[in-house]
Amino acid sequence: MPEHMTAASGDEFDQMARDAVYRAMFTRRDVRSHFLPTGLDDAVLARLLLAAHHAPSVGFMQPWNFIVIRDAARRADVRDLFLAAREQELPEIEVERQALYRKLKLEGICESALNICITCDRERSKNSPLGRWHNPEMDLYSTVCAVQNFWLAARAEGVGVGWVSIIEPQALKSLLSIPEHVTPIAYLCVGRVSEFASKPDLETHGWGRRLPLPDLIMSETFCGQGETPLKSAVAHLNTVAAAQANPADQCVAPAVPQREPPKEASALSFNSRNFDDASASRASQAGSGTWPAMVLK
Ligand SMILES: Cc1cc2nc3c(=O)[nH]c(=O)nc-3n(C[C@H](O)[C@H](O)[C@H](O)COP(=O)(O)O)c2cc1C
Repeated sequence: MPEHMTAASGDEFDQMARDAVYRAMFTRRDVRSHFLPTGLDDAVLARLLLAAHHAPSVGFMQPWNFIVIRDAARRADVRDLFLAAREQELPEIEVERQALYRKLKLEGICESALNICITCDRERSKNSPLGRWHNPEMDLYSTVCAVQNFWLAARAEGVGVGWVSIIEPQALKSLLSIPEHVTPIAYLCVGRVSEFASKPDLETHGWGRRLPLPDLIMSETFCGQGETPLKSAVAHLNTVAAAQANPADQCVAPAVPQREPPKEASALSFNSRNFDDASASRASQAGSGTWPAMVLK
């Protein structure tokens, strides 16, 4: 790993580095389509795995393993598990949404370059459960942190990742010879892609929308009212990003960086609801000095 990537803690990120981190977060996508029929270099995969392996973990337990699945026949078997699980899940979906559910592409198991199953070994440090005595599930959460590191690093490398959770876990364990005390956390489709969509597939297809962030912020206790300046600051970010992404839009603030968020929170819901992933993506791709870099100055 090049030295500049492992600078000692306390070293500050410069503006470009900050931009890059946020860009990876705002333009990461769950990819099910657009996989290219090309392989993935082991050198690239090694970097993604190293990023995953540097995730935080409870008690520094590092409970993860990474099963790399390349074999076409095995992948076809996993896809069969997906198809069966999808049929089982379908009746649980609201009746009026079932037709849309059927149309959604929810995996890229066979089209991607390879698959990776990230697992959690629940017994890895069972004799010293630092941080897990009261909260035994923390090892699972640690493994999810590894998944997210992998996902973000992949985005930075131009590699698509799609998480497939519509699989019956016992059947997957049996197919991949995963022992009883090990839990499969994420089954990932991984490979080079022709594009990253500007917004979530499920948003594009009308399944859901990103919730307004100010509505999710609480003060002191669950459902506690307050934090108006913070909510206003959040809405302000959305407004600036939307304005930069679409300067012709008359309904948003001018695309001039403002250091202070407006004091009034009155436009909160309007702003947040007018901001979408495409705006974030375009704004972040606009380069250094734009949002979100701007708001960090
Ligand atoms: C735990 C988890 C499980 C998921 N399972 C699936 C899945 O089975 N199939 C699928 O197409 N997407 C799956 N996704 C992807 C989500 O649908 C996706 O993250 C969400 O729609 C937002 O889109 P984005 O990741 O592109 O921002 C999963 C994501 C997570 C975090």
